[in-house]
Amino acid sequence: MRKHTLLFVAMFVSIFSMAENLLSPDNNFRLNFYLSETGEAVYSLTYKNKPVIIPSKLGFELLNAPALTNGFTTLKVETKTCDETWKPIWGEVKEIRNNYNELLVILEQKAEQRTMKIRFRLFNDGLGFRYEFDKQPNLNYFRITDEKTEFALTDDHKAFWIPGDYDTNEYAYTTTKLSEVDASKVDGTGIGTHGFFAKNAVQSPLMMKTNDGLYINIFEAALVDYPAMQLLIDQKNLILTSALVPDAVGTKAYMQTPQHTPWRTIIVSDKAADILASKTILNLNEPSKITDPSFIKPQKFIGIWWGMHVPNTMSWDYAHAPNIKLKDTDWNALNPLPQHGATNKNVRRYIDFAAEHGFAGILVEGWNVGWEDWSGNWKEEVFDFVTPYPDFDVKALNAYAASKGVKLIMHHETSASVTNYERRIDKAIEFMKENGYNAVKTGYVGWIIPRGEHHDGQWMVNHYIRVAEKMAENRIMLDAHEPVRPTGLHRTYPNWLACEAARGNEFNAWSTGNPPEHETILPFTRLMGGPMDYTPGIFEIKMSYYDPKSTCQVHTTLAKQLALYITMYSPLQMAADLPENYEKRMDAFQFIKDVAVDWDDTKYLEAEPGDYITIARKQKNSDNWFVGGITDENARKAIIPFNFLDEGEWYIATIYEDGKNADWKENPMVYDIRKVLVNSKSVLKQNLANGGGVAISLKKTTKAEMKGLKKIK
Ligand code: NOJ
Ligand code: CA
Repeated sequence: MRKHTLLFVAMFVSIFSMAENLLSPDNNFRLNFYLSETGEAVYSLTYKNKPVIIPSKLGFELLNAPALTNGFTTLKVETKTCDETWKPIWGEVKEIRNNYNELLVILEQKAEQRTMKIRFRLFNDGLGFRYEFDKQPNLNYFRITDEKTEFALTDDHKAFWIPGDYDTNEYAYTTTKLSEVDASKVDGTGIGTHGFFAKNAVQSPLMMKTNDGLYINIFEAALVDYPAMQLLIDQKNLILTSALVPDAVGTKAYMQTPQHTPWRTIIVSDKAADILASKTILNLNEPSKITDPSFIKPQKFIGIWWGMHVPNTMSWDYAHAPNIKLKDTDWNALNPLPQHGATNKNVRRYIDFAAEHGFAGILVEGWNVGWEDWSGNWKEEVFDFVTPYPDFDVKALNAYAASKGVKLIMHHETSASVTNYERRIDKAIEFMKENGYNAVKTGYVGWIIPRGEHHDGQWMVNHYIRVAEKMAENRIMLDAHEPVRPTGLHRTYPNWLACEAARGNEFNAWSTGNPPEHETILPFTRLMGGPMDYTPGIFEIKMSYYDPKSTCQVHTTLAKQLALYITMYSPLQMAADLPENYEKRMDAFQFIKDVAVDWDDTKYLEAEPGDYITIARKQKNSDNWFVGGITDENARKAIIPFNFLDEGEWYIATIYEDGKNADWKENPMVYDIRKVLVNSKSVLKQNLANGGGVAISLKKTTKAEMKGLKKIK
């Protein structure tokens, strides 16, 4: 008996003597780390004593070298605590608290004489961890063929997912149990380039909900010099494993010590709204590298843009001239198409509209030569980024914009010929500076050149950052379309205002579109890593307006388009519809004119992924608040308490709501606008239509202004 006990104690010591525990500052999370009998690194995570991640392995397979998966012993363990507050250059809140407990385990593979560190940071809303490799004789250059990071789950959770894909994230979401994921069944029509790789693979951020109401988000932070992490699902054992995007020769990551991986993040709460409020991804990114951020201006903009996406309205192309070569085309000899969008006349009209209604920028696409033959041919020399079409007078237009106090926004569609873009980018930037541009939208439609690379691989990840850095050096703001999805790098490069990197509103113009639940999922997935250039504000909802034969439409009511300015956070928001469509509905357009894009505070009032979101935000340096509430295809009553307002003050609430019998499909464009009075004790019960929404602007008021307005209890 005694012998047995001793043996048990000895075993316990040998297996678990290395066990380390770490608590979050509020004690709600507990991280456990230990080495298995064969020296594998294993971690697990609980939240309020409930298991979230059960024992899961960590490590890497390497090319032509022994794996970093087992044979580890612990050399040293260090702990640390951090509690600091920092101020973002722009954001959803004025100040961000960075509060975590840290555990650093330094592991050694004696046989290989190599070390690997794992740094865990436990916050009050979840865990971040990364691998670090010091410079060392036996681990200098190495190639990762597979990252073996596991996230072993407790059950077959409900998941909001898009297919794993090396080249695109422009899918609509599917909601199923993890065991039911079949990425091969997802319709990808309308998406330019696919890099589908496995039916049981999904992308991160992955949002999940457990049967007992826990919300779990798995993602990554600070993706630098490393490929994006997607997730392979072991559908029997419910274990997710990191699936890195490979390069053209099949390698995942090229490493040279000292180097570290991005952070793997697991954000958890029993309230869905807390997931939206999490600042952990930002906290895991490096502080701003921009010493003088005065050129960075959160803004609203319009553009010569929607006209190209809707039927029969505008074109990017100047002329009909397929199969052209940049260097031997005489543009002046071509016959311009009547629908060419970026003409002097149109751009002036848009400049006037922007100036009149307070928009800082005007995006102009289709201004430069090359659009005649830009996509589908995997061609290297498509655009030169410096030659305007004959009907776009770059100097005169920028001067006209300047005279009206607004600026044109540059467009660099690279056609994914990244080699060409990199060769020409310095000249392109010079051209922008000479002509007074301070912002650029980039685009990567098509197959990447260098051929065989992927949009989300290490090479491209570095490219996007190189562009952000170059633009920062030249005091230019950046909005990237079709890049890898963001991972909080806008903290480090705050000139990188927004990205697309998901299925934007444009899909509604020419494809099956975005189902009404789409915008209730994106904030829990894509927006976890940073702002999205979703391009809200479409008033003319049905494309049959432009082409009687078209069945395409925006899958929301008009009021929901307004609400998106609040629920889809971005410091760069487009008023995406055509000016003439706004001119017909100036009363509703007023909300887009008024709404802020930079905030001192944000309250996530109610949220459920796939169903609804209601958010209130306080405008930067102002007493004004704005509220946005959206729902999926089901009508609902949003309950909006105004307890965030200053006590003892009355506010005029201008409510932009779905009109009578509004319905995203049958009757999307009816809306009402009413004014009521609210104070910090008021609770508004607000009806949202199927696929509907509500947008509210709140201004402090005086006794005189209150006359005749109804008070909400
Ligand atoms: C796709 C982008 O998302 C869209 O905004 C742009 O107009 C086209 N590419 C052309 O660059
Ligand atoms: Ca739903």
